Amino acid sequence: MPLLEVVDIEKSFGGLMVIAGFSMSVERGEIRALIGPNGAGKTTLFNVISGLLDASTGRVILDSVDITRMEADKIARLGLSRTFQISRLFPRMNVLENVLIGRHVEYRRGFWAQALRLPGVRKEEAEHLDAAREMLSFVGLEDKAELSPDVLTHGERRLLEIARGLAHEPTLLMLDEPAAGLNDTESRGLIALLQAIKAQGATILLIEHDMKFLMSVSDKVTVINQGEKIAEGRPDEVQNDERVIEAYLGRGLLAGSDPS
Ligand SMILES: Nc1ncnc2c1ncn2[C@@H]1O[C@H](COP(=O)(O)OP(=O)(O)OP(=O)(O)O)[C@@H](O)[C@H]1O
Ligand SMILES: [Mg+2]
Repeated sequence: MPLLEVVDIEKSFGGLMVIAGFSMSVERGEIRALIGPNGAGKTTLFNVISGLLDASTGRVILDSVDITRMEADKIARLGLSRTFQISRLFPRMNVLENVLIGRHVEYRRGFWAQALRLPGVRKEEAEHLDAAREMLSFVGLEDKAELSPDVLTHGERRLLEIARGLAHEPTLLMLDEPAAGLNDTESRGLIALLQAIKAQGATILLIEHDMKFLMSVSDKVTVINQGEKIAEGRPDEVQNDERVIEAYLGRGLLAGSDPS
């Protein structure tokens, strides 16, 4: 059974069809990239999967549970965690507190607890704090715990958002353009981090524009254009697909640059 199944989703905004009969399955433990030109419907699809938007038709199944009309909070408790294209950090909380927010879903003793060897007997609050600190150090921000997110670099803020997502101890982590605006060194660091997350057993679904980045990190790529799936396969297969080349013509995908 795939971890995530998206079946025949349709979504319109005021008569404009933005997702048009879109289906995909994501296997447990893979890093899947969702790519497509600006306005293709990627973020809308993330919103439908994570419960922020209801689809007009279709179904979403997570870990064999039908989450189609479920509220976002409840879906999060089932193990789905996501970041946003535009930063949603809380400027009046410090870095550590921003990660702790991610623990607000009901605590589940999942594989992250095991992976991080969190003792089972501690008081819950101390446990949350420890886990949040572990997540910070997992993404390399342990020295920034007491700072305001405002003083972090753009790249550090992206990492903080991932740390907060991980604080849910997700089985499925969804990242909306995590590499946007990162320099080469930061991109390489992010690739290593995503691989480390995968090695812990999590499944990752990410939206990304940069083909060089995708080639090094994703197991499989799904391409969406005007709300429809136009290709799916290994990164090298998709890169040479006629329909993909056509959809991206003049948009810089093949040059590996960010078209947005
Ligand atoms: N809340 C909304 N109301 C009306 N139209 C919307 C809404 N959200 C998105 N759209 C439209 O739906 C289409 C898909 O938008 P979406 O944000 O999903 O694209 P995207 O693939 O994430 O693009 P980008 O690469 O620019 O982030 C666009 O035409 C957008 O203008
Ligand atoms: Mg988007």
